[in-house]
Amino acid sequence: MAARSCLYALVLFLAFQSTMIKANIVLTPPQCSPVLASSLERIQFLLNLIIFRTEFFLRASTGRGIDDIAPGLVQGPVPIGATVAALDNGTRRIIEELGLNGVGHIRAVSEFTLLKTPIPRPLLNLSAEVFAAFANAAVFNTTLTPPYNAYGSTINFLIAATFASSYLQQYYAGIIPLIVGNDQQRLVAGMALSEVAGYGVLRTQLYSRVNSTVSPYTFTVGRFYNLGAELHNRLGGCGLKDEGLFVPLQLGAENRTTSNVVPADAYSLAYPRYEREILRIVFGNGNATRPGAIFPAGFIGTLFQKIVFLKLA
Ligand SMILES: *[C@@H]1O[C@H](CO)[C@@H](O)[C@H](O)[C@H]1NC(C)=O
Ligand SMILES: *[C@@H]1O[C@H](CO)[C@@H](O)[C@H](O)[C@H]1NC(C)=O
Ligand SMILES: *[C@@H]1O[C@H](CO)[C@@H](O)[C@H](O)[C@H]1NC(C)=O
Ligand SMILES: *[C@@H]1O[C@H](CO)[C@@H](O)[C@H](O)[C@H]1NC(C)=O
Ligand SMILES: *[C@@H]1O[C@H](CO)[C@@H](O)[C@H](O)[C@H]1NC(C)=O
Ligand SMILES: *[C@@H]1O[C@H](CO)[C@@H](O)[C@H](O)[C@H]1NC(C)=O
Repeated sequence: MAARSCLYALVLFLAFQSTMIKANIVLTPPQCSPVLASSLERIQFLLNLIIFRTEFFLRASTGRGIDDIAPGLVQGPVPIGATVAALDNGTRRIIEELGLNGVGHIRAVSEFTLLKTPIPRPLLNLSAEVFAAFANAAVFNTTLTPPYNAYGSTINFLIAATFASSYLQQYYAGIIPLIVGNDQQRLVAGMALSEVAGYGVLRTQLYSRVNSTVSPYTFTVGRFYNLGAELHNRLGGCGLKDEGLFVPLQLGAENRTTSNVVPADAYSLAYPRYEREILRIVFGNGNATRPGAIFPAGFIGTLFQKIVFLKLA
């Protein structure tokens, strides 16, 4: 009798628990979900984005890359096509600092995880033409003349730089809940908060120029960034997760503002992106298994290999 009521209690508990779980789960289609992977594999995936952001910022601000700052930290092909950007002095200092922060993050990964130096560097294509192709796709598939030059001015660079940082902000928002183990959690949280502080600085810099014209074109920074965000959402294929610097009232914080320095959902929470979305975007073609654009040879690490092997486009 006691055993039977125990069983009833268990059945009731399980039924209750399953409704609780169901009520809390928001189903996302598999192409918008994280790929099954270990914490270390996600950190290895993350490194590709950190190395891209770091090389781009360092080379554009100072003409020197990770190899010059920290010899032996990374190993792999030298990034293609980066040049020193025509930045104003204040912006150059900020970009250099954020680049150096990235070097610290790579050192932290090699110090606090099993991923040891030299950290393999993916092939990076940082040519102005790569960013120009994104710009053309954003502006309704027209060909901008002259081509958009990410290195050509402070405004041009800030736009590309902000997107480069947003991939990290979004991927951190995606993986933080999935990282297991105190040491790895501390590492990822520390890198994420530093990255996101920098991302906020970049968006603030852009926001202060939101009505400036992106010379020599006719559109403003605000309009161009909006189009860029829409392109990212199209490529990612998982709904609205990138937002412009100003938004319709119903997308603003508490539906009470159209300024949008900090992009976020209806609760002002950061939008997460997972591996496949990120790849669809940085490959520039909406296909997570077809390397291109910034990463012509794909990502380094087992998580990317798994995505290719399982054809998780
Ligand atoms: C910017 O920095 C350069 C080199 O350090 C210096 O020659 C120039 O005067 C600075 N420009 C301004 C506006 O401060
Ligand atoms: C880098 O991008 C440029 C411009 O799209 C392209 O011409 C070049 O072939 C690319 N290099 C590699 C190695 O993918
Ligand atoms: C640009 O072209 C791509 C591929 O042809 C298409 O999917 C996309 O909708 C086009 N974008 C715009 C804004 O027209
Ligand atoms: C940009 O222009 C809009 C409308 O003209 C104005 O309300 C806003 O304050 C301007 N923003 C900045 C940052 O100058
Ligand atoms: C803002 O508007 C959206 C619909 O446009 C609604 O779903 C949301 O609950 C509103 N948020 C607040 C805080 O009122
Ligand atoms: C993605 O790219 C791969 C490799 O080029 C190709 O085989 C596959 O058909 C593409 N998938 C989609 C959905 O475009």
